[in-house]
Amino acid sequence: MNLRAGNYRIARGGLHFQRPYLDNGARRFASRLMTALPVLVRSALPEDDAAIRTLNERAFEGPIEAKLVDLLRDAGQAVVSLVAVLDHRIVGHILFSPVTVAEAQAGLRAASLAPMSVLPELQNRGIGSRLVLDGIEACRQRGFDLLVVLGHTNYYPRFGFQKASDHGLASEYDAGDAFMVLELTDGALGKVRGLVKYAAEFNDL
Ligand SMILES: CC(C)(COP(=O)(O)OP(=O)(O)OC[C@H]1O[C@@H](n2cnc3c(N)ncnc32)[C@H](O)[C@@H]1OP(=O)(O)O)[C@@H](O)C(=O)NCCC(=O)NCCS
Repeated sequence: MNLRAGNYRIARGGLHFQRPYLDNGARRFASRLMTALPVLVRSALPEDDAAIRTLNERAFEGPIEAKLVDLLRDAGQAVVSLVAVLDHRIVGHILFSPVTVAEAQAGLRAASLAPMSVLPELQNRGIGSRLVLDGIEACRQRGFDLLVVLGHTNYYPRFGFQKASDHGLASEYDAGDAFMVLELTDGALGKVRGLVKYAAEFNDL
């Protein structure tokens, strides 16, 4: 399987980075992926619910994100929900839910990455990166054109995310540069503008 996300490609023979990304200090990321723990990433199943809840509670040190995952799943908004499994244990989770964009070309589909979590004792071992890469690919396969994320500005750019404000997109939340966007289909960023609205469940917390 080939994974593509803007500035790099994983293919037979290993990782292939494009020049601009290498200039942006990607060598550490490449090394992180190559030394990553050998997790299995698969779609979440109903029997994973309790483990995903515990994982989110631990990673975020509180119940809010765990509750958000439950709300999104129960509302049918978890369009992509992946778990990372190590030694038959769920050690990571990532979720994507649809968003709307104020001005968007008809038929354009966008989703948000949130939340994502890795067990505290296993962080910084490449599991999060695997989840993001596989999550991006799963969204692409499900026909999404665009992804947004509200997160760490030194983490998501390595996957190709760019400042959303540079593309005329704004978040409902006062997020500044932390609001980022990734184009999955060519030209998608030119077909959107304005306020990005998250699923209603984000406001139910
Ligand atoms: C963010 C998270 C999912 C990353 O998973 P992970 O398996 O640790 O990630 P990886 O091993 O692939 O990558 C580690 C990198 O992420 C960075 N990172 C992790 N948490 C970070 C944070 N809170 N702020 C900024 N960078 C962070 C690390 O500094 C490291 O950077 P480096 O590669 O330049 O050294 C994980 O740290 C986590 O669950 N954190 C708590 C919950 C959370 O904040 N979720 C994200 C919400 S947007």
